[in-house]
Amino acid sequence: MKINNLEIKIFKDKAELYKEAANEVLEVIKKEKKPIISFATGGTPKPLYELLIKYYQQKIADFSNLTSFNLDEYLGVSEDNINSYSYYMYNNLFNHININPKNINLIKGDAKNIKREIKRYQKLLKKNKRHLQILGIGSDGHIAFNEPGTDPNLGVHIIKLDQQTINDNARFFDNDIEKVPKEAITMGISDILYSDRIILIATGKNKAAPILQMIRGSVNNLLPASHLRNHDNVCIYLDSEASNSLKL
Ligand code: GLP
Repeated sequence: MKINNLEIKIFKDKAELYKEAANEVLEVIKKEKKPIISFATGGTPKPLYELLIKYYQQKIADFSNLTSFNLDEYLGVSEDNINSYSYYMYNNLFNHININPKNINLIKGDAKNIKREIKRYQKLLKKNKRHLQILGIGSDGHIAFNEPGTDPNLGVHIIKLDQQTINDNARFFDNDIEKVPKEAITMGISDILYSDRIILIATGKNKAAPILQMIRGSVNNLLPASHLRNHDNVCIYLDSEASNSLKL
């Protein structure tokens, strides 16, 4: 089903959702000689990464030609910090598949010269159009760390996290809001849109409100994910809870 330029897929069974999302990745790595995929972090894509690891172990998937990017990183957080998104990616995916470490592109959150780091990453993003961008969505409608109000034309930039995002992410920091970094470096919305295909996965009732606004509301800066409607090849993967408010 297509609503407002977004293809919508609703799954009663979450296992089916992740299987189909994993198939998107398989298709890209099979079809492209030099596949380029940008990954997301957070709780939502974890089951997808588990499946990809399983497919690698079963020799169904070969990641040797894959070039990866990631959406964002906490500012000032080093890659060996267990809460960094770099750590997350190695721990949840890269350490368990045959991706060439040389082809892993991550933002260095604790780079001495942040301006230079942003420029470096931006240049790589411009040079390497993604075949597939995997996204989650924040409960305030953010994608990557583009918080409500962000200019969609911005490229890679530093952002101050919204209180809601800090609260949501406290679960990864012993439920201690004080421990959550207050700033991050993120791809801009324009960078996210620079991909042949984009899939956004949302599960659980927490995501029903931003999903409804993204799909049915207007395209506006206060709901960053709504800008996905300006891209012609976006698919939204929803479980029943996240799709509940759509009343289809
Ligand atoms: C984080 C990340 C986003 C992610 C979102 C949702 O803040 N920056 O890329 O999509 O939050 O996370 P979760 O999947 O854990 O709900």
